[in-house]
Amino acid sequence: MANDGLKHTPTELETAGSRVLPPADDVAARFKVLPHPNLTSEADWKAAMSDLKFGMQFSDHMARAIWTVGRGWHDKEIVPYGPLSLSPAAAILHYGQEIFEGMKAYRHDDGSIWTFRPGYNAARFNASARRLALPEIPVEDFIASVVQVVREDERWVPTGEGTSLYLRPFMFASEPFLGVHAARENTYLMIASPVGAYFEGGMKPVSIWVTRNFHRAGPGGTGAAKTAGNYASSLLPQQEAAEKGFDQVCFLDAREERYLEELGGMNVFVVRKDGSVVTSKLTGTILEGSTRSAIIRMLRDRGTPVFESLIALDELVDDIRKGEVTEMFACGTAAVVTPIGRLASEDFEVELGKSDFAVSVYNQLTGIQNGHEPDPYNWLYRLA
Ligand SMILES: Cc1ncc(COP(=O)(O)O)c(C=O)c1O
Repeated sequence: MANDGLKHTPTELETAGSRVLPPADDVAARFKVLPHPNLTSEADWKAAMSDLKFGMQFSDHMARAIWTVGRGWHDKEIVPYGPLSLSPAAAILHYGQEIFEGMKAYRHDDGSIWTFRPGYNAARFNASARRLALPEIPVEDFIASVVQVVREDERWVPTGEGTSLYLRPFMFASEPFLGVHAARENTYLMIASPVGAYFEGGMKPVSIWVTRNFHRAGPGGTGAAKTAGNYASSLLPQQEAAEKGFDQVCFLDAREERYLEELGGMNVFVVRKDGSVVTSKLTGTILEGSTRSAIIRMLRDRGTPVFESLIALDELVDDIRKGEVTEMFACGTAAVVTPIGRLASEDFEVELGKSDFAVSVYNQLTGIQNGHEPDPYNWLYRLA
């Protein structure tokens, strides 16, 4: 039967990520809370919260756990946020064995605090862990780290349109050794940062430079994992894009150098004149975004066909010129949805004038996240 773009078959990650989680109260004592000798003063906290930038300030606490061969996870603690003591030989510093996640805690109008699909992030974290030869962390511990830091640092969850407490769980090889093998000691941390809008200046369309000089990921590589090296390799192409006057870089597939994959930190959607939507297929080289997954689901339920397919750049540019493609947008946890206003590379430049569709997706998704719209998918999880 032809795919009509409306039927939704959950991916492995979507299935793992929709496992029912224990309520926050049931996991809220898994990490031992150590006393904090020096909480941020009221005046410094106020100053920090009145000028929110993305990822520049951090809350008072962090979660920490250690994994060692033979013992598994131990010393699970909520400790003061602060510098780490790390051997200069720690494997992360030499071999980049690291994974991370990005989530947000949202304050609702009644003061309660929620996060979005934490089970999805936990499942993706463990999928990344497997790819990077790192140990998996029990989902309950992952959730507990978020619950407990947010509960200790409730005042750091901002109020106000577009604001949130950005949550950054990560794990890295902390064993000190030189030699290429999987570390026998790893550290898990969860830090939190109160944030305003990701792109300053609000939801204005971004310009995208498609790089022909670099690839982000290749077949069999780590593109589908959320690991430091993918971002390290995207920095130079991102600089190249910025030097040419573009906001973000977009990568093509490494095998045929023809298909649009994703931006350095966001997935991409294409809106067609016929009312259908296309997004890059999961080929193992792109990150399976939580926002991408939520948007696909919402759109299909709205009756908008969504096709996950290879997006040939040459055909896309032709279709934009012919008016067959009316909009493009990028999506991810940090910025939610961002319209793409200009797309270019060495041999073409096209503009996209509209962003109505992107705005409607943004409104629907942020409406659920902020508690202003019903949550038919049970995506929200109450933290406090
Ligand atoms: C490379 C990459 N693609 C896509 C995304 C979007 O993923 P999500 O929607 O889960 O934030 C991110 C952000 O985490 C990313 O780093």
